[in-house]
Amino acid sequence: MQDTTDTPTAIQTEPLDPAAAIETAELANRSPRLYRRFGKAERIGHIGLGISFIGLAITGLPLLYSQERWASGLAQAMGGFEAMGFLHRFFAVVMIGLFVWHLARVFRRIVVDRDWGMLWGPNSMVPQPRDAREIYQNVRYFLGRGERPRFERFTYWEKFDYWAVFWGMAIIGGSGLILWFPEFFTRFLPPWSLNLAALIHGLEAVLAVGFIFTIHLFHNNLRAEKFPMDTVMFTGYVTEDELRHERPDEYERLKREGRLAELETQPAPGALKAGRVYGVVVNSLGVMLVVLMLYALFS
Ligand code: HEM
Repeated sequence: MQDTTDTPTAIQTEPLDPAAAIETAELANRSPRLYRRFGKAERIGHIGLGISFIGLAITGLPLLYSQERWASGLAQAMGGFEAMGFLHRFFAVVMIGLFVWHLARVFRRIVVDRDWGMLWGPNSMVPQPRDAREIYQNVRYFLGRGERPRFERFTYWEKFDYWAVFWGMAIIGGSGLILWFPEFFTRFLPPWSLNLAALIHGLEAVLAVGFIFTIHLFHNNLRAEKFPMDTVMFTGYVTEDELRHERPDEYERLKREGRLAELETQPAPGALKAGRVYGVVVNSLGVMLVVLMLYALFS
């Protein structure tokens, strides 16, 4: 088992980029310490969500902006508006399936496993007083008036991104199902609810694409610490330096609880490269959609 005691010089000299950290450690003839942050299910869920989301955005936005030339070009490239409608429904099934799977896993952990840590504490996505404190501390840090907050497992912006996607899925999925099965829903909803669903669906789509490919993209790829890409959602691990530098309170807690050795992991062959290719493709398509949306909005 490797020693996990502090070596302050290592914090300053080792790069934060996982690939570079592995290379540096290998050059020094030792293996870098990597710690598991996300398991297989979370990684598969996130990758599937990314693919289905970009698929839905590419097949949905040309309908919303059908008067634009780029929209008919995109639709033609996908085999016409009818084929695009089919693809939209296909990706919708994938996304709804992933959402239901996520809800089932959360339900099982809380109700069956009685894992109360899901509801409160460092492993919970529920906003807590600590998050408010860390927002305040981070603003002071940005203004050069204090230290960087000593983040735990989830930062306030990660929780914000999680809940934005969570409620966004419920809204866009619910309104999408009404558009998909109008006869069924108008058995118990007034007819104007179809117009409302179309309005909500379109607006939420613009908000979601705008949010994911600007704010979420910035948080996970463009921040100085993460540039050009955070690959943790693909590989599942962070380097020891990333953990210590970015989430010192989590690192200290894991050390106190004696859990660091249990979380130590090895890089999965090919995961880093595949993750980078996936990230470049999805993010490029997403940024392209944001540009096209802005063009449509202002033209
Ligand atoms: C997750 C479940 C979803 C379902 C069940 C769903 C379903 C639908 C359906 C049935 C339509 C009408 C399509 C047609 O007439 O051929 C539609 C339109 C559309 N969808 Fe979705 N969709 C979902 C998610 C999304 C997402 C995530 C986005 C974008 C990020 C999106 C963007 C759009 C847009 C922009 C339209 C056109 C709306 C309009 O013309 O006003 N959809 N969707």
